Amino acid sequence: MAKAKTIFFCKECGLESGKWLGQCPGCKAWDSFVEAPKEATGGRRSGARSLQSRKPVTLKEVRMEEEERLCTGMSELDRVLGGGIVVGSLVLVGGDPGIGKSTLLLQMCRLVSAGGTSVLYVSGEESLRQIRMRATRIGEFSDHLKLLAETRLPVITDTVTELKPAVVIIDSIQTMVDPELESAPGSVGQVREITSALLRLAKEEEISIFIIGHVTKEGQVAGPRMLEHMVDTVLYFEGESVSSYRVLRAVKNRFGSTNEIGVFEMLSTGLHEVENPSEHMLMGMPEGEPGSVVTVTLEGTRPILVEVQALICRTSFQLPRRTAVGTDYNRLNLLMAVMERRLGVQLSGCDAYINVAGGMRVTEPALDLGMVLAILSGYRNQALPVRSVAFGEVGLTGEVRSVSQSRLRVREAAKLGYTTCILPQADLQAAQEELPDGITYIGIKNLTELKKLFH
Ligand code: TYD
Ligand code: MG
Repeated sequence: MAKAKTIFFCKECGLESGKWLGQCPGCKAWDSFVEAPKEATGGRRSGARSLQSRKPVTLKEVRMEEEERLCTGMSELDRVLGGGIVVGSLVLVGGDPGIGKSTLLLQMCRLVSAGGTSVLYVSGEESLRQIRMRATRIGEFSDHLKLLAETRLPVITDTVTELKPAVVIIDSIQTMVDPELESAPGSVGQVREITSALLRLAKEEEISIFIIGHVTKEGQVAGPRMLEHMVDTVLYFEGESVSSYRVLRAVKNRFGSTNEIGVFEMLSTGLHEVENPSEHMLMGMPEGEPGSVVTVTLEGTRPILVEVQALICRTSFQLPRRTAVGTDYNRLNLLMAVMERRLGVQLSGCDAYINVAGGMRVTEPALDLGMVLAILSGYRNQALPVRSVAFGEVGLTGEVRSVSQSRLRVREAAKLGYTTCILPQADLQAAQEELPDGITYIGIKNLTELKKLFH
């Protein structure tokens, strides 16, 4: 038998090395290397099993039919999964603590089990009583859903092989332990071993397993990156803590597009699907106020109208303050520099607070023009024409560049009753005939033309 080798890996990014390193060459974190638990146990277990059961096949022998899918009955979730839960798949659901991961998956369990499918919810975080309390807020549950409060991996795998549920939820990966490993729950070694054991279980028993993972403050699923490449699908549940809106996003999907998002609202009776996100995002928006601009962002294939707000005021600090909520802070700084240079507005003496209202996070370049207009409108204290939308990418020379799917964006704005559309000149020319009537189009080539919007 080969001698078990000692391996070290980075706690932050999962990079492996044969020796201990002071700084990780991958993510440059200092003092992040830890010794892996003796790797033999997990590795051997899997090795022995797969040696017996697998033999090479030709391509023609591989079954070609579509993956079998189980519809959850939540259309927003089904869409993000690529059309339902794929039988035998391993899905990681990541997100900040308290964002609603357990609630989302408990609701999914409720709908799936109501159809007679057997489901097992394993919780290492909450007691069964706590889960029941949560469940009473959500609704009636079928007896096909079984709960298990457990953290030890062997007990879980035994229960799963005995019960043979179609869907299993592991809440959360950080609380689970493999007693054969010496490291603590939530450590890289534990998380990695447990995930690979669950992966084998999912594939061998054809069970769909959902793993919940909390995100650490560095913004990674703890036990981090290596988890993402082990699983079939990675979903992130996001939202600003102050807002009740939540967005479920696929960042990796072996069985579907990563372009799809699902929008939910957290109410006192659990998560509710939001079928028309634009209307919700704009609810309560002030009309005709300086510093408020509506823009159309594309989330996957869905156009969504969001309001960008900018508050610009003279600074009383030595260094002006800038904050960006719901968008990229560096992009804000860049756009303000472009405006200062190309439009000659004196922003360096101003504090700037930018907020994408509604609780969505938008980092798409098409947001640029909306952001610039919001800042300009806030700076001049003049509102844009009422019921207008703006989108377009802004380059460093102040040019306004074309964005993808402008027709789709305009149509969404028209649907919601917007009558003025400020867009890149290039998009206006390209799609002129196909744009909906009844809207005033203002094509912009360069930021210097924006002045004509204010009188
Ligand atoms: P939870 O699903 O426990 O979050 P996670 O598993 O991601 O840590 O969500 C908890 C939050 O959701 C908590 O702050 C309370 C809130 N919540 C509601 O607002 N309404 C509800 O019906 C439920 C069940 C939870
Ligand atoms: Mg939870």
